[in-house]
Amino acid sequence: MIVAGCDIGSLSAKAVIMSNDDILASHVIFAKPEPEESAREVMDAVLKKAGISADDIEYCVATGYGRNHVTFVDGSESEIACHGKGAQWVMPDVRMVIDIGGQDAKAIRLDENGNVIRYAYNDKCATGTGRFLEIMAGALDVELEEMGEISLQAKNPVNISNQCVVFAETEIISLINDGRDLSDIISGLHRSMAHRVASLAKGIELETNITMTGGVAKNKGMFEALKDALGVELRKMEADPQVMGALGAALFARQAANGNKKA
Ligand SMILES: Nc1ncnc2c1ncn2[C@@H]1O[C@H](COP(=O)(O)OP(=O)(O)OP(=O)(O)O)[C@@H](O)[C@H]1O
Ligand SMILES: [Mg+2]
Repeated sequence: MIVAGCDIGSLSAKAVIMSNDDILASHVIFAKPEPEESAREVMDAVLKKAGISADDIEYCVATGYGRNHVTFVDGSESEIACHGKGAQWVMPDVRMVIDIGGQDAKAIRLDENGNVIRYAYNDKCATGTGRFLEIMAGALDVELEEMGEISLQAKNPVNISNQCVVFAETEIISLINDGRDLSDIISGLHRSMAHRVASLAKGIELETNITMTGGVAKNKGMFEALKDALGVELRKMEADPQVMGALGAALFARQAANGNKKA
């Protein structure tokens, strides 16, 4: 049985194709202004990678903020349920997932069957999201993908006092002018963001087996900062963390195609 999941997020669109218990292909693109356009483009790309056509897909589920605007899918599921399901499929012992995407951060607690017990999210402001890091990368004139490595060289991380993204941007410009080391500034930004996300997760009580999903999990510096802020072990996702929502959607698609028996 071949099924698909697509996750239409605020900054990126992701798709996963599964054939029985195997992931045939996954793909990530930058989001387009229209969710439908993002969904079609990412699905075309993932179908091409998998070497199959749309007619071969038995069931397709959409997730992400744009999920209700995608017309060609068979169903939709919340991002929270999908990140939880995808992460636990890859790492069965996981009981808590922290997803940091482009426009929000979520903490999700799961039972042993991948069902969501409790969750919390912050979508009130950009601080604590991937977009915050993108803005700061622009202000510091560094590549987003380099921020993690650079921050790991920090010897004396700065303390970022402003929580607002606009004020934080001004603050880091003064820190650059004061001659502070780039690695110390980026490490300070990661710590400030990690502190906010850790508070969100602690608000629903930490589980012992925690992993991180979403595009921000690709940032090694942010991963380490979050581990420190949580004060407990954080396990590295054993697959591409950015496609966990799309994988969860594919697993829900498989479940639906099976007549809603457990996937
Ligand atoms: N290679 C990378 N290195 C570092 N950070 C990355 C990398 N790729 C993506 N990111 C981060 O991931 C963020 C996007 O994450 P993701 O794709 O999970 O967002 P999204 O699902 O579109 O957003 P949301 O779930 O909030 O709607 C970017 O803002 C960026 O900070
Ligand atoms: Mg997302």
